[in-house]
Amino acid sequence: MPAAGFSVAPSAVEFEAKITPVVIISCMMAATGGLMFGYDIGVSGGVTSMPSFLKEFFPVVYEKTQQHQGDDNNYCKYDNENLQLFTSSLYLAALTATFFASYTTRALGRKQTMLIAGIFFIVGTILNASAVSLLMLILGRISLGCGVGFANQAVPLFLSEIAPTRIRGALNILFQFDVTIGILLANLINYGTSKIEGGWGWRVSLALAGVPAFLLTLGAILVDDTPNSLIERGHLEKGKAVLKKIRGTENVEPEYLEILEASRIAQEVKHPFKNLLMRQNRPPLVIAIMLQIFQQLTGINAIMFYAPVLFNTVGFGNDAALYSSVITGAVNVLSTLVSIYSVDKIGRRMLLLEAGVQMFVSQTIIAVLLGLKLQDSANDMSRGMAIVVVLMVCSFVSSFAWSWGPLGWLIPSETFPLETRSAGQSVTVCVNMVFTFVIAQSFLSMLCHMKFGIFLFFSGWVLVMSLFVLFLLPETKGVPLEEMTEKVWKQHWFWKKFMDNTDTKDSV
Ligand code: BGC
Repeated sequence: MPAAGFSVAPSAVEFEAKITPVVIISCMMAATGGLMFGYDIGVSGGVTSMPSFLKEFFPVVYEKTQQHQGDDNNYCKYDNENLQLFTSSLYLAALTATFFASYTTRALGRKQTMLIAGIFFIVGTILNASAVSLLMLILGRISLGCGVGFANQAVPLFLSEIAPTRIRGALNILFQFDVTIGILLANLINYGTSKIEGGWGWRVSLALAGVPAFLLTLGAILVDDTPNSLIERGHLEKGKAVLKKIRGTENVEPEYLEILEASRIAQEVKHPFKNLLMRQNRPPLVIAIMLQIFQQLTGINAIMFYAPVLFNTVGFGNDAALYSSVITGAVNVLSTLVSIYSVDKIGRRMLLLEAGVQMFVSQTIIAVLLGLKLQDSANDMSRGMAIVVVLMVCSFVSSFAWSWGPLGWLIPSETFPLETRSAGQSVTVCVNMVFTFVIAQSFLSMLCHMKFGIFLFFSGWVLVMSLFVLFLLPETKGVPLEEMTEKVWKQHWFWKKFMDNTDTKDSV
């Protein structure tokens, strides 16, 4: 799923398949799933920096932001549990929903699961846009989070099963691309709505999430379920008919037989999560978990969630802060394109290592500038220095967007063997949500207590994760899935120790 690039990576065999209208419509649906997730990531930071929103739901924070310089600690203006809960509750709900989603995607199918997601999104949007109390606001975020949990499990799976093999890898990163577009749209809309007179602009920002929510729901009603899901649930004839329709050919027998076989093998595995813990499955499991933890410890979501608040903290007015977030959002989108273009040319490791250096340098410069110029109760930061901070944030975001952003999702999806791929995907998504929650819930408090040191904290982690990549992450560029064990794990200086046991079947 998730969130971002969550599809299952391509198989080596190429079947006859045209890029039919059904496939194109499905890609557009995926776009709405990704957009929705991205919109939710991006919208909260903007609305929490709008005075009318703060005044209504977080009066204590509003008071602090209104005090004059010197009256209070610059770094702590926004340090408020409830404000953090507004952002983080979504991820807590998404994490919980993922467990249910892994059941419904199997038992009810991808289509029904997307429909469930769409309904949660619509309910959440209505609650948020019409909120008259903090409770309504948080309940709305929880409902949106449930939508994210269901959508991020079902949409990528749906996509990977419906796409012809040759475009599956690209679709994987496309999902992440849609997430970044969703974030940018939210930044742009926040910039526009903050100018609405009368202080209800935030309602428009929150209500506009209804557009992708509605499209996802409509899409889920209109499309057929995937052949894999139909066959897995025993609807063999319907599955074959849908396969013919989406591939635009009568000649689907070879692919049909492969799906049948894959679903037989998948059903033989009685305990996929237990299977995941078997010795030879540990390397991809450890890699998937560590990549998710590290992805969040880059500090990216401190920027995605709280950029306007951060820019406000360094002394920008509300308008400039929102405007700067639009710039970082645009950098995020454009740099993801770099990844789509280069991931299969220069490889995963090279992108991650280059980004490690760039992220480390950018964060260290941010920390030094804030350390020198932004004291607890005095802000000596000149306009020029504040602009350098924005530039360094852009440099950090761009390197994340062509490395840890998409690759954090792509690599797990291509290293798990078939029989543990879906369980592996659930674990990947869950770990991501847990750490996204942790960052969302703690960043503003960490900024208050660690001050500029928070950026040294993240850069320290960037160093650790780059060493992890250097020594422990194998290159998977251009390796067919079926040859992953032979060509990657068995050749790796460390992971080969786990490969001596050739039994890959469920032990129980
Ligand atoms: C991450 C999100 C992040 C986004 C930024 C995704 O890969 O999982 O947490 O907000 O990238 O573009």
